[in-house]
Amino acid sequence: MSKPTEKQILDSLRTIIDPDLGKDIVTLGFVKDMKVADDSVSFSINLTTPACPMKAQFKKMAEDAVRKVFPSAGKIEVTMEANVRQSPRAQGQLEILPSAKNIVAIASGKGGVGKSTVAVNLAAALTKLGAKVGLLDADIYGPSVSMMLRTDEKPKLNGEMILPLEKDGIHYISMGFLIDGSTPIIWRGPMVAKAIEQLLQEVEWPEMDYLLVDLPPGTGDAQLTIAQRVPLTGAVIVSTPNDVALVTAKRGLAMFEKMNVPILGMIENMSFFVCPHCSKESGIFTKGRAEEEAAKLGVACLGMIPLEPSIAASGEKGVPIVTLDPSSSTATAFISAAEKLAQSIAKLSKEK
Ligand SMILES: Nc1ncnc2c1ncn2[C@@H]1O[C@H](COP(=O)(O)OP(=O)(O)OP(=O)(O)O)[C@@H](O)[C@H]1O
Ligand SMILES: [Mg+2]
Repeated sequence: MSKPTEKQILDSLRTIIDPDLGKDIVTLGFVKDMKVADDSVSFSINLTTPACPMKAQFKKMAEDAVRKVFPSAGKIEVTMEANVRQSPRAQGQLEILPSAKNIVAIASGKGGVGKSTVAVNLAAALTKLGAKVGLLDADIYGPSVSMMLRTDEKPKLNGEMILPLEKDGIHYISMGFLIDGSTPIIWRGPMVAKAIEQLLQEVEWPEMDYLLVDLPPGTGDAQLTIAQRVPLTGAVIVSTPNDVALVTAKRGLAMFEKMNVPILGMIENMSFFVCPHCSKESGIFTKGRAEEEAAKLGVACLGMIPLEPSIAASGEKGVPIVTLDPSSSTATAFISAAEKLAQSIAKLSKEK
């Protein structure tokens, strides 16, 4: 059987539908650099994020689709690539930081529910999946990213600009470097927002697919001003699965929605506990409560992260669990949440 034409191969690839974007991969323009030789075919599939959870599946489906129209091919080479699209910025927001394609706030209502832990681990997971990632610790009240991604270095200056630190591929900067840790902070909202704007504008950020912003807890003046002024792609709400946390989480969620900042999803942290002795699962709070609440509100649940001593220990060590023990079930939970987040962002770019 002779080799098929490029059109025949493309037509066969048209059977592969991206379930998020609702169109086939050829129509979406994902298929690039097609080369058809007598006994081989090569092309690339350019996805909207390297963190696409469908990556391996798309590759296999593409190979099968080509095999169908070219059974005698000796080699079918499908290269998976990604180009994260720039998300649309809400009108009226500052035109700052064009080097970040997406700026994502990690927020909660209540303090201590694991925002910073989730932020550093999502950053580590997105980096591991091949994305260019930055992390801005905007929590002036208790900056902890500088501890959770510990290095001995301090940020250096390049002329007037601050150079972000880098650890395991994550570029980050923390309010912790700029304020005296022992002095209580009594800044009002606009001052907080101004300081964050400075960290966006006066830091020499590299090109980033995703810049995560670890917000201070609460839904007060500071958070409101940030949601208004910082050109956010969307927000991720972190909550523990109990009403005390969920009531304030919902308040946070409503605040972002009022500001027209899309909610990219909720993460249920400290969801359950697996006993290291008997391997039985116990609910410390009520497993699934945050997920249930998210469903009621029409928000995606990006992941359920267990209460796990190694997560806390890795935070203390200054290395996220995703980097420290990437094959652990907890790291896997964060990686899956990062994939869902990237997916949620990609869907958003398509809707606008
Ligand atoms: N899933 C988890 N399992 C075990 N420990 C956790 C988990 N999530 C967070 N922790 C621990 O709980 C503490 C609080 O977490 P973290 O600092 O991330 O919360 P936060 O919401 O950022 O707090 P704040 O509101 O003060 O900014 C930390 O010591 C952290 O290591
Ligand atoms: Mg924090």
